Amino acid sequence: MRPDDAAWTDLERHAAALKGTTLKALFAADANRAAAFTHAACGLTLDLSRQRIDTHAFGLFEALAAAVDLTGRLAAMRAGAKVNTTEDRAALHVALRGAGGGAEVQQAVREARDAVRAFADEVARGARAGAGGPFNAIVHIGIGGSDLGPRLVLDALKPYRRAGLDVRFAANVDGAEIADALEGLDPAHTLIVVVSKTFTTQETLANADAARAWLAAAVGEAHAPAQIAAVSAAPEKARAWGAGAVFPFWDWVGGRYSLWSAVGLTTEIALQPGVFDALLEGAAAMDAHAFDAPLDANLPFRAACAQSFNRLLGHTSTATIPYARRLQLLPAFMQQLEMESNGKGVDAEGRPLARLAAGVTWGDAGTNAQHSFFQLLHQGRDVIPVEFLVVAYGAEGPPAHRDMAVANALAQAQALYEGKTADAARAELLAKGESAERAAFLSTHRAFPGDRPSTMLALADLSPKTLGALLAFYEHRTVMQAWLAGANPFDQWGVELGKQMAALLLPALRGGALGDVDPATAAWVGRLRI
Ligand code: F6P
Repeated sequence: MRPDDAAWTDLERHAAALKGTTLKALFAADANRAAAFTHAACGLTLDLSRQRIDTHAFGLFEALAAAVDLTGRLAAMRAGAKVNTTEDRAALHVALRGAGGGAEVQQAVREARDAVRAFADEVARGARAGAGGPFNAIVHIGIGGSDLGPRLVLDALKPYRRAGLDVRFAANVDGAEIADALEGLDPAHTLIVVVSKTFTTQETLANADAARAWLAAAVGEAHAPAQIAAVSAAPEKARAWGAGAVFPFWDWVGGRYSLWSAVGLTTEIALQPGVFDALLEGAAAMDAHAFDAPLDANLPFRAACAQSFNRLLGHTSTATIPYARRLQLLPAFMQQLEMESNGKGVDAEGRPLARLAAGVTWGDAGTNAQHSFFQLLHQGRDVIPVEFLVVAYGAEGPPAHRDMAVANALAQAQALYEGKTADAARAELLAKGESAERAAFLSTHRAFPGDRPSTMLALADLSPKTLGALLAFYEHRTVMQAWLAGANPFDQWGVELGKQMAALLLPALRGGALGDVDPATAAWVGRLRI
């Protein structure tokens, strides 16, 4: 018997009871539900009223949080304890925003920040330049956590970008990616930034080699290092490979939690001065909220409860739909954050996980998503909870577009909730002049089951500060969800087996001997060997 078993049993029993309840019944039982299930902090307003969850369930989650000592674990994480037990490491991404880790860690963080800021300033002033003069382009090479965060932040904060700098990203090992990234750039004015925590990642090293060769062919081997910066927790490897400037980060920052570190070098250079600091400030505000706000008003905790409860209700997938073009890369970022963190089969002690720590996370920007997969969300047999994001103020472009984006987000959530009966559909069709026979035939096609759960998350604006708070909110939600279920959100052993196998198959594809592989793989190596 584990200390959290009783709390989970209570939750499972309550989920089974709520399964038979409609969202409308929950609203009918509590006239204040829309307000009572909405909380705000750090520029975010989170409305969970249309999730199939109630006050009793939140109370049970608070009991579960006590049973797993969630508050104590968060404090231990902040203090720098080795909460990532399988890798024997701390998880101190919050220290990058100034919260905890101790004096030594804070000193290291400050020094790295100063170095990154100084480098960015030199690039901006032209004091650090390419063979042909000031840099007018950066090619950022990295994958996973060394790519998704910086890519998202730069896309989201486009209005805060420095002028005259073309930023390209190369992550995928497919050669088309680095070819596209380098296409049309002048090597004598291009800075290459290679980001890899381990500096062993196959894709990143292949792309970095290609970029360095491209650079050296134009500016010469001797000058190339002056145009290459690297960010790594293995700085000696980066230096040996040929980077002229190397910025450290540490094994206590997980890749998918690392955008706040020197991994943000490209971001810092490409954004106007002070913008990266504002991003960190927003994240720090969310850290303070996550650590200190009472659980019944704690945004990441309540959101983690809603996600966990959805798993108990049998919903294994969540769609993230930002109604903001500038957040269109958020679903990709969330995929790594949630599924690499919590897509686990055993708990932190290695025992089979009794409950899902994460489901499938996916999505796309609204309104584009409406015109692709919303059909399934509304009428498909799977019920997939949706998380809608809207930006309240400060939208770019024609003012009418902001209202249309918001109206669409609200309408989709309303449609998922309300649905439409076949009788109502038939009545509409008859009113439009359809024959009784045709109206009867079409009515089931045009009916919506409704009663489908969703979350509405509003950002006050898309400022650097609010974006920082949003991304930190998701980090805390991910960690809390893992710890409620018993998983370790900081390791990722599940990515290793395929990597090992790729390394073994590569020589065979290039004509070498094929080891002991299964018949299907052997057949494919035979077909694809060049
Ligand atoms: O393969 C998964 C992973 O290890 C991620 O966790 C990480 O973000 C990514 O690869 C890149 O790793 P690195 O920064 O060491 O190149």
